[in-house]
Amino acid sequence: MKVLGISGSPTKESNTDVLIRAILEATGAEREFIKLSEIKVGPCIACMKCVCTNECVLNDDFKWLSRRVMEADAIIIGSPTYYGAASAFMKAFIERLYSKRHIKLLMRGKIAATVAVGVAAERMVAEWMGNALRAGGVEIVGSMTAKGTPCCFVCGPGETCNYTVWNAYSKELTGMDLGVEEAYKDYLEILPDNKPYAHGSAKFLKSYRSVKDEPAVMDEARRIGKLIKERLEN
Ligand SMILES: Cc1cc2nc3c(=O)[nH]c(=O)nc-3n(C[C@H](O)[C@H](O)[C@H](O)COP(=O)(O)O)c2cc1C
Repeated sequence: MKVLGISGSPTKESNTDVLIRAILEATGAEREFIKLSEIKVGPCIACMKCVCTNECVLNDDFKWLSRRVMEADAIIIGSPTYYGAASAFMKAFIERLYSKRHIKLLMRGKIAATVAVGVAAERMVAEWMGNALRAGGVEIVGSMTAKGTPCCFVCGPGETCNYTVWNAYSKELTGMDLGVEEAYKDYLEILPDNKPYAHGSAKFLKSYRSVKDEPAVMDEARRIGKLIKERLEN
C-alpha cells in the first residue's frame, strides 16, 4: 500500500508540511512526501487534449507526479491559506488532475485526507480541496485545519505595520468577527492605540506558531493517519 503526501506550502518545514508528514507516518504504509514548490507543475490551460487519453500533454513535472498519484492508494494534500484560497501551487496541481477525470474517472477508489493551515479562512481551503478531489471520484476520509504563523510575525515590521493580518481581519475592517484576536491571544497583544489600517501597534508574545507545540492538533493528524491505515488494511 502506498500513500503520497503533497504539500502546497512553499515555506520550508511549514506547519502544512509537518501535519502532512505526521499523517503519512501514522499510516505506517510505504510513503512519499512531495513539495509542489520544489517541482514545476503549472496550471491547466484548458486545451482538452486529455479528454480521450486521460493524459495531460503539458510538459512539466506533472508527467511523473501524475504517475505517482495514480500508483498511490491514498493521498494527503495540504495547503496554506492564501487570500482565502489554496496556494497557487495547490490550485495548479488540482487543476491538472482534471486530466484523470474524463470518461473513466481514474481516481475513483482512492482515499484522501486534506490539511489546511491559515490564520482566519483555513476551513474554506480544506473544504475546497475536499470538494475538488471528490469531483475526481476520490473519497475524503479525513480533513483537518490548523492555525499557523501569520507572515507578519516573521516579516520584521509586523508589530508596527498598519496593514498586518490582524488588522486586515479585524471586525472594524471586515464587519465580521473572524476570531483572529482570540485565536492568537497567546501570541500577540494588540495594543489599545492600534487602529486598523490607520495606525498599527502590537506586541509579539511569541513570534512563531508551530503545530508541533499543539498536542491536540498533532493527535488529530495521527488519528487521520491511523484511519487511513485501517481503511487500507480492510
Ligand atoms: C500571500 C499570502 C496570503 C495570505 N492570505 C491569507 C488569507 O487569506 N487567510 C489566512 O487565513 N491566512 C493567509 N495567509 C497566512 C498563511 O495562511 C499563514 O502564514 C499560514 O500559516 C501558512 O501556512 P504554512 O506555514 O504551512 O505555509 C497568507 C499568507 C501569504 C504568504
